[in-house]
This record gives sequence, structure tokens and C-alpha cells, in this order.
Amino acid sequence: MCGIFGYLNYRVPRTRKEIFLTLIKGLQRLEYRGYDSAGIAVDGPGKDQTADIRLFKKKGKVKALDEEIYKSDSIDLNAELDTHFGIAHTRWATHGEPSAVNSHPQRSDKNNEFVVIHNGIITNYKELKKYLVSKGYEFESDTDTEVIPKLTKYLYDNRESDYVSFSTLVERVIKQLEGAFALVFKSVHFPGEAVATRRGSPLLIGVRCQYELSTEQIPVQYNRGDSRKDELQEKNFRNRVGSTNALHSVHDRMAVEFYFASDASAIIEHTNKVIYLEDDDVAVVMEGKLYVHRIKPKAGEDPVRAIQTLQIELQQIMKGKFKAFMQKEIFEQPESVFNTMRGRICFESNKVLLGGLSDHLKEIKRCRRLIMIGCGTSYHAGLATRQILEELTELPVMVELASDFLDRITPVFRDDVCFFISQSGETADTLMALRYCKQRGALTVGITNTVGSSICRETDCGVHINAGPEVGVASTKAYTSQFVSLIMFGLIMSEDRLSLQSRRLEIINGLQKLPELIKEVLALDDKIKGITEELHHQRSLLVMGRGYNYATCLEGALKIKEITYMHSEGIMAGELKHGPLALIDKHMPVIMIMMRDACYNKCQNALQQVTARQGRPIILCCQDDPEISTMAYKTIELPQTVDCLQGILSVIPLQLVSFHLAVLRGYDVDFPRNLAKSVTVE
Ligand code: G6P
Repeated sequence: MCGIFGYLNYRVPRTRKEIFLTLIKGLQRLEYRGYDSAGIAVDGPGKDQTADIRLFKKKGKVKALDEEIYKSDSIDLNAELDTHFGIAHTRWATHGEPSAVNSHPQRSDKNNEFVVIHNGIITNYKELKKYLVSKGYEFESDTDTEVIPKLTKYLYDNRESDYVSFSTLVERVIKQLEGAFALVFKSVHFPGEAVATRRGSPLLIGVRCQYELSTEQIPVQYNRGDSRKDELQEKNFRNRVGSTNALHSVHDRMAVEFYFASDASAIIEHTNKVIYLEDDDVAVVMEGKLYVHRIKPKAGEDPVRAIQTLQIELQQIMKGKFKAFMQKEIFEQPESVFNTMRGRICFESNKVLLGGLSDHLKEIKRCRRLIMIGCGTSYHAGLATRQILEELTELPVMVELASDFLDRITPVFRDDVCFFISQSGETADTLMALRYCKQRGALTVGITNTVGSSICRETDCGVHINAGPEVGVASTKAYTSQFVSLIMFGLIMSEDRLSLQSRRLEIINGLQKLPELIKEVLALDDKIKGITEELHHQRSLLVMGRGYNYATCLEGALKIKEITYMHSEGIMAGELKHGPLALIDKHMPVIMIMMRDACYNKCQNALQQVTARQGRPIILCCQDDPEISTMAYKTIELPQTVDCLQGILSVIPLQLVSFHLAVLRGYDVDFPRNLAKSVTVE
């Protein structure tokens, strides 16, 4: 998905080369989101005492853009700039093919008077484009974004008075926009100034200065409008020295740097002090000061934007000794799963506590139904835990794909509790489903990995899964941590039920041993790699299982599809005879999951059906299972745990299978084609 990065240095002299390095580095930190082209806008040397803006845009990797910049000899890389604002973007095509002209920044005109970077989608761009074309504006790209800089220039050219502030202009622009956006603007008419705004797409601003920022808060300014009077007020405001409405008011003329990004991973190496913008905030940096404007207050909203301290560290998002982030994240699972449980399960007293739910627990326990909603891997985490949640809560549990849930206009009631499972906390479909359920009065619970994300902020309560940053597009450790979080929720729901105490105890003991058992599974890596060496030329791979491990099949097949580009299908073994059996012959590679649980005998039937058709299945089974080893072509033997936790162990070999297959087939494991880590469009 698209990524935004901006860097403003105020009274901090930086050479153009240093500025480029910062912008390129910012884009590299956002690469994991998935993209197909990238671009940058910086100030040029200027002519006739006027500012000019230079654009560098390129299809393909950020590295190619970087090389492009150094090819240009029209710009002095050693020139030092005391104050400067540069913007950068990675684009993932939605409107118009990946190409330099469609990549961002998009511009108002050939002179680059206004340039804009955008995440999200403008749904009314066709109407706006038609209007602007009728006013003589010429469009060069196929993007929805291009209407934004053009509309900005139109409003600037048609301003009522000489002076209009940059932020007022942007406020007027966003009034006309429909859809979702995070935007950062730069203009030759406002050199050294930055304006950023959002609606429905995340945007945050990092601040780095000479003194220690701690609890500063930025008051939001309201009631600025279009009238001439407001413009004069704005002018006064701009001239006021030491205004109390801006950050750094008491530190006038102080050197400061600002970082704008759609994602904290691009900011963290520069500063851990950030503010998160809210929908319809217009943030402006003017003369080194940051202001937040809103057109009008919303009932009950916070009148300040507080500086927050980011907790993640850079090395957490670096690859370390591994070939790919995905591989690192697979191997992190003993710790990430432990971190999910840390401070929440007391293994001495067998008590479970989820602080983020405690205020709403009574209400949750009174509910009539649980609905689990997510997309992709997060949906599978809901599916994987449905059976145990039904058992522990004695409630009906629905598991829903967010997009389908919305398509069906599913009935939701006030006594429903709806869970929104999302690693990023920003997935547009999941977020839409959340707003839908909220409107209908249901209690909403977030299961996310990203503190401060939209789903985190908009749900009534929730559980942070604490898996640490996940960079690989194919989700791995987030899945196992979502799984464990939902199990802990089940344990809390059943704490008062006498009849369930021995089951709870069995699960709690199983959870305690889990990190060690994950290590045992990871130790099978070499064996698994060996098996993939036989498989990597195949076109297709089926994964079969049932019961607690049906979700494992779907998740395993998703991993294989995502990064190896092989056809793969997760098949419910009970459905084999209703269709998929027709696919089986001696050439079709099949992985079967056969754990020692209530479905074991039924899985054996499926195995018979496969071997009777000369299928040669690779079987994931429990250690020392003599009945299996004679029938399998190959086995991957896993330690046994409690039936409802087995899926955490059985998914790991499939994560490793997909990783090794992708490497053997020569693909970029972390950035699969056509996919994005965080899908912030519907
Ligand atoms: C994208 C990713 C998937 C992910 C899904 C849901 O499609 O490619 O790996 O599972 O989004 O993401 P979320 O952040 O909501 O868990």
C-alpha cells in the first residue's frame, strides 16, 4: 500500500544530499507496505528570487529512484539549506498503471506550484476532474490524486484577497474531497511550510528538537473559515510571536525538525516523539512551529493533540541475521507468543487478566453472540479459535470476512460483541465493518498489533497482541499472537464456570509450555527445507485437514499463494469426497494435517481416500505416530499439545514451507508482487 514520508528542517542546515538521504531512507522504511513506484519533491535552486520545486519519480524500487536522483546534474547536491521541506512517496497502483507519471508527488501544473502526496482513494475525483478540465486545467496522469494539487491551485488562483494561508487553502480543498486520504502538501508559494491532513488514512508527525519533549500538548484551533475576517485573523496569528497555540511557542526561532509519515517505522530512527493526526485535522508547520487546525469542533472530542512517545525500537524492525523479515518473524515466535502472554497469565495462580477488557467484561459476559471480523490471516485467527471460544464461552460465535460481512449488510444487534482482528489496525474493510457495528450499538473489541492505529482508537476496548512490529507482507507471528490472545479471552470468559475448570487448567498449562514447543518445531527447519526442494517446481499444492486444524490449512495455503505464486488450496478434509478428490492423482502434491485429536479417525479416512488414488501425501502429525508413518510419503513430526492450541504449532511448518519455496523459486519473500502489508483501501 502507499507510503508517505516528509522531512522539514527548520534552522537545521542540511545539504541537499543529506535531505535526499533522509527522504530515501524514509521510503525504504515504508517499502514493506508494498508499492510499485516512488517519487520525491524537493526545492530546486530557484530562479529570479522565486522558489522552484523539483520532482523525481520512477517506476519500480526505491533504489531505482535513488539512482535517478544522482544521475541528475541540474541540482547541486552539496548546497546547504537552512530551512527546507521535502516530500516522498511509495505508490501502490489503484487508479492508473504503475508508471513515473502516475506516481506521486502529483502536481498542479508544469511549474510544480503545488505538489501533493496521497494515501487512500478520492471517490469523487471524476466530478472534480470534469470541473477543473472545464476551467482549463490539463491532466497528465490517470490518478485520482491529481485533482488535489490542481484544485489547490485553482483555489489559490481564485482567492478573494491577496493573502491566503496555506492551511486555509488546504481546508478549502478537503471540503471538496470525498473518500479516504492522508495528504501532505508542498508549494512554491509557501516555501519552508508544510501542510498535512487526513481522513480515514493514518498520518503522524514526529518532532525532533534541542530540548526534551515530554508532555507537550498542541491545542486545536477551531472556527477558522473562508471569510475575509478569518483571513485577517490568520494573518495576525501568523505574525504573532510566541503564540500559545503552537508547539514550541516558548522556543521561538528554535532549530527543529519535523517528520511526516503514514507509519511510525519511518520516523522511529529520528525521534520517538510524535503526534497522531485525527480525521479532518489540518496540521501546518510555519516558521518552525506546528499548529493543528480544524474547521469545527466535534462533540466530545479532545481539544488537544498530545505528543506521544513511541515504544518501538529501530532494531526491532531490522532484519538481523535473517535473509528476510518473514524468516526473522517466523523464528521470533517463541518470544512473540511469550510477549503476548506476558503479565496477563499468572502460571502460579492460573489467573488470566486482560487489562484492556476489564472495564467491559461484565457487559461482554452478558452478550448473546460473538462476531469475529477480519481479513486474510487475521480472519484465519478468528476461524482457528472459533471452536474453543464456543466451548469456553458457551455462546454462538460467528467468524466473518470483513468485506463479505459488509456486502451482506449482516444484522448486528446491541447485545452482540464484535471483535475486529487486524495486525495493522488500519485495514479499510475491517475498519468499515467496525464503524458499521458501532452504529448498530454493538460493543466493539479490537485485537490489534499496532498501538494508536485506527482500529485501536475507534473500538470500545481491546487487546494489544504485543507481537512486535511485523514487516514481512505475509503475516506470521501476528497470526500466532492473535491466536493466543483469543484463547486468553476464552479463558477469561470461562473463569467462573465450574464445569470448565479442568479444561481451563489444561489450556493454561499448554500455553505455558508453548514457547518451548515452538522452538522444537523451528528446529525442523532443515528437514522442511529438504522437503521443499522436491516441491518447488510444482504448479499446485493442496493442504488438507479438519476440526481445529482446518484454519491451519487455509492459512498455510494463503502463505503459499502469497509468496510462492503457486496455486494452493486449503481443503476441509470432510469435503474431500464432495469435489476435491477429483484433483488427486500421483502427481498432485498434498500436505495433510493429522493431529491426535477428536478428528484423528476421520482424517485417517481422508488419508485412505488419498492414498487409494496413488496420492503421496506429506503428513504433519504428532511425534511417534506409527499408524501414520507407514502411509505417508514423508512426515513432519510435531510435538503434541492441547488440541485447541495445536494449530499454533502446526501452522509453523507451513510458514517455513512457503518461505523456502519462495526462496527456491527466486522470489522476493518480503515484498510479494501485487500485495501490500497494510490495505487501507476498500
Ligand atoms: C493484507 C495482507 C495480509 C493480511 C491482511 C489483513 O491483505 O497482505 O497478510 O492478513 O491484509 O491485514 P491486517 O493488518 O488487518 O491483519
